[in-house]
Amino acid sequence: MPGKQRRPARKSQSLEARPGGPPPTIRVLPAQKRKFRERLLKWYTRHGRDLPWRRTRDPYHILVSEIMLQQTQVDRVLPKYQEWLVKYPTMERLAQSPLAEVKKTWYPLGYNIRPMRLHSIACESVARYGGSLPRDQEELMAFKGIGRYTAGAIRSFAFEEDAPILDTNVRRVLHRIFVGGESAPKTQTTALWDLSQAMIPKGRCYDFNQALMDFGATVCGARDPYCLLCPMKDFCKTYPFDRRA
Ligand code: ADE
Repeated sequence: MPGKQRRPARKSQSLEARPGGPPPTIRVLPAQKRKFRERLLKWYTRHGRDLPWRRTRDPYHILVSEIMLQQTQVDRVLPKYQEWLVKYPTMERLAQSPLAEVKKTWYPLGYNIRPMRLHSIACESVARYGGSLPRDQEELMAFKGIGRYTAGAIRSFAFEEDAPILDTNVRRVLHRIFVGGESAPKTQTTALWDLSQAMIPKGRCYDFNQALMDFGATVCGARDPYCLLCPMKDFCKTYPFDRRA
């Protein structure tokens, strides 16, 4: 239009990766970041669950809990976790046990590739690390059966390192609050990992990551989130969540 200056196009906020374009990022204002961290930690102090794997920093115990929790609800993991550690209290004991017996002990958790992975990790740990686990991300991920999530969980929960995690619950929480929408598409995985990393309050990663898990499991659940009780509701991009929308 003559005489009228066009405003420069706003930088795209799209989170869809464009071929040849920069990877998508999720931008969060510093004030929101601060609010999210503070409120999540405060919420966790009041409502965090007292779970047996939060009373230990033993890398093997953390590993067992994380592999069990990969596809199974906390309530079903609790008795098996206790039973497992009585039978296989150390990496060495697990590595020495016959795989057939280990698989039987796993019953009825399901997804039976998991006891095989756990056994193979134990054998590798004994052979290469004297029955312990390394704290380095790459070294952890070199184990068959340890992916990016499990490596982050071991680093933050066993070694108290500032390492990010991203499982289904954490994905959902970060996406709902900072992007908007019921659940995150695959294309946002890298951006969500970056966000999970950027959100960590220095030196508080242990509590922060455990809090993210509990918040996703109990407040910002997949089906019926408790939006009215949510401490993030004044800045959540999905509030109020409405399944019919
Ligand atoms: N799911 C995976 N890891 C968990 C943890 N440490 N606490 C609760 N739920 C979990």
